[in-house]
Amino acid sequence: MIIAIDGPAASGKGTIARSLAAHFGLPHLDTGLLYRAVGAKALADHVDFEDEAALAQLAGALNLAALDPEALKSGAVGEAASRVAVLPQVRAKLLTLQQDFACQPSGAVLDGRDIGTVIAPEAEVKIFVTATPEARAERRYRELAGRGEPVTYEQVLADILRRDERDSGRASAPLIRAADAVVLDNTALGRDASIARALEIVAARTGR
Ligand code: DC
Repeated sequence: MIIAIDGPAASGKGTIARSLAAHFGLPHLDTGLLYRAVGAKALADHVDFEDEAALAQLAGALNLAALDPEALKSGAVGEAASRVAVLPQVRAKLLTLQQDFACQPSGAVLDGRDIGTVIAPEAEVKIFVTATPEARAERRYRELAGRGEPVTYEQVLADILRRDERDSGRASAPLIRAADAVVLDNTALGRDASIARALEIVAARTGR
């Protein structure tokens, strides 16, 4: 069983993906980490964000096993990730890696922006997780402030709106709901209610 979870920044898709993976005993890939890793390396190496060939080379050299999610969570790295993610050559380098992960015999859960549309259009279950920009900004603000990042709610909201526009407006694999994805709007749902709803969606699609 392949479960594809897509949605905008801070929609809670990662939490849902991790919970479904644990529940069904499936491997999970947070595909945003791949773009974050390329963005972080570009920042560290002072690579020009206009230099598509150089950024694609970084993407090609990525080692999945060596990714440290904790080191990739900052707002600056998220912004860098969204900038490298508009580049078709970068996306092309990360495609096979994600498709190989999705096609494991065990099945898999992947979350990102283009899983149900580009990476695994054949997925049995597709969930499009969303919430209002304000609700997402509130969550992301609490998360960043909790880690001691010096941000305000207004900055986080502006950042989310800019990320939404870039992720949805780009020409290459933009964030759009797959026609056969079920929408899970969790603006008014807490964590547990969101996960329960996701489990209902899987059950309705697969009987599991
Ligand atoms: O989900 P996230 O915030 O970790 O993702 C960081 C950026 O990576 C996001 O702004 C867009 C990009 N991304 C993408 O283009 N395609 C994916 N499948 C996952 C992430």
